[in-house]
Amino acid sequence: MKQEIKPATGRLGVLVVGVGGAVATTMITGVLATRKNLAKPIGSIAEMATMRVQSGEEKLIKDIVPLVNLNDIVFGGWDIFPDNAYEAAMYAEVLKEKDLNLVKDELQQIKPMPAAFDHNFAKRLNGTHIKNAATRWDMVEQLREDIRKFKADNHCDRIVVLWAASTEIFVALSEEHKSLEALEKAMKENNTAVVSPSMCYAYAAIAEGAPFIMGAPNLCVDTPAMWEFSKKMNVPIAGKDFKSGQTLMKTVLAPMFKTRMLGVNGWFSTNILGNRDGEVLDQPENFKTKEVSKLSVIDNIFEPEKFPDLYGNVYHKVRINYYPPRKDNKEAWDNIDIFGWMGYPMEIKVNFLCRDSILAAPIALDLVIFSDLAARAGMCGIQTWLSFFCKSPMHDFEHQPVHDLFQQWRMVKQTLREMIGETAPSYLD
Ligand SMILES: NC(=O)c1ccc[n+]([C@@H]2O[C@H](COP(=O)([O-])OP(=O)(O)OC[C@H]3O[C@@H](n4cnc5c(N)ncnc54)[C@H](O)[C@@H]3O)[C@@H](O)[C@H]2O)c1
Repeated sequence: MKQEIKPATGRLGVLVVGVGGAVATTMITGVLATRKNLAKPIGSIAEMATMRVQSGEEKLIKDIVPLVNLNDIVFGGWDIFPDNAYEAAMYAEVLKEKDLNLVKDELQQIKPMPAAFDHNFAKRLNGTHIKNAATRWDMVEQLREDIRKFKADNHCDRIVVLWAASTEIFVALSEEHKSLEALEKAMKENNTAVVSPSMCYAYAAIAEGAPFIMGAPNLCVDTPAMWEFSKKMNVPIAGKDFKSGQTLMKTVLAPMFKTRMLGVNGWFSTNILGNRDGEVLDQPENFKTKEVSKLSVIDNIFEPEKFPDLYGNVYHKVRINYYPPRKDNKEAWDNIDIFGWMGYPMEIKVNFLCRDSILAAPIALDLVIFSDLAARAGMCGIQTWLSFFCKSPMHDFEHQPVHDLFQQWRMVKQTLREMIGETAPSYLD
């Protein structure tokens, strides 16, 4: 059914939590350079992908639905380090100095607001640019004030808040997360064990009517309390965990084995990574959050309960090793033990020498652009159609997540078609 979509007029403020991080500064630099025609937005679905419309014609997605123009985006955000985006990007060492210099002035203008931070949630980090908050509720109030001020100072029509900050320690779902009332009570009582700083950012964003995107695997917005709040406030939420490298490969290869009815005995995945993200994930409590996110993929795609002969006994292991010399240039190895006709075994080795933030930057941008579209289309709560961009797609207790990249892509196209009141053109979609 066709939806009324408000036009993307005026400015969109994009507030990034962890604005000094590798992903954030890489995304921002790319957008600023693209605006000046000095780069192409490679990897961005919103900017480059096409799809067929009912007539059979193939069009750019941005010509089918009204997306924000990159020229209308204003960046800001929070970080625990006070460095401006240029200094932070130099530190991250993802992009070369010559590329950063193309937009140096604009990057220098982006100065982080003091962060809502709790050292217990990321013990490897020691930033000082942080808020002084008596309680978690006070943290929320200060963040809401930041959002309102940024919006007014920058003459923005709309705001999107994106978490591209470090992965927090694993937080299990507890009673305090199960209803909005219980969560607000826990915030007011300053229950710091169950209310993470990321939950304060998410709550503040939703309270201010801004879509919130969780780019890390944090529990954060993935709770009944936040689902309830986002519906109450009519605000979209999306996440979790950018699907950038190894999991992207997994969600392409696993559907291939399944489609051809090939069996799998084992899947061993390991990585070396030397950026700050790798350092934070070196802490076991922080790695656990990531591990849960990375492990869920395979079972979901293979459906071992339906195909026990093929996938009833898959040994799946995921490791991330902090190795400073590689910086952001992650190297990932996958060994997959498969079996075919008469049970004969075969091995597949994948060695992906990737650049973590180069892969994650367009995903972060697309999540921002599509969340803003969803808000203007009146959509709220979990944005399941954005699972395509996420390693650990959010879902409520009644639904299963979809991990298969091709099914996820169909969900993107179908949602966009529904927005404009079209159906798929033919089986050659
Ligand atoms: N790069 C990828 O491919 C990829 C893929 C999936 C998920 N992620 C996730 O995205 C996030 C960012 O990755 P990155 O490589 O840019 O990491 P990074 O360490 O370079 O950046 C994170 C930034 O967040 C800041 N920060 C930490 N806690 C904060 C808080 N409470 N408030 C404000 N700022 C805070 C840090 O100071 C740092 O500048 C990580 O959680 C990572 O796990 C990255």
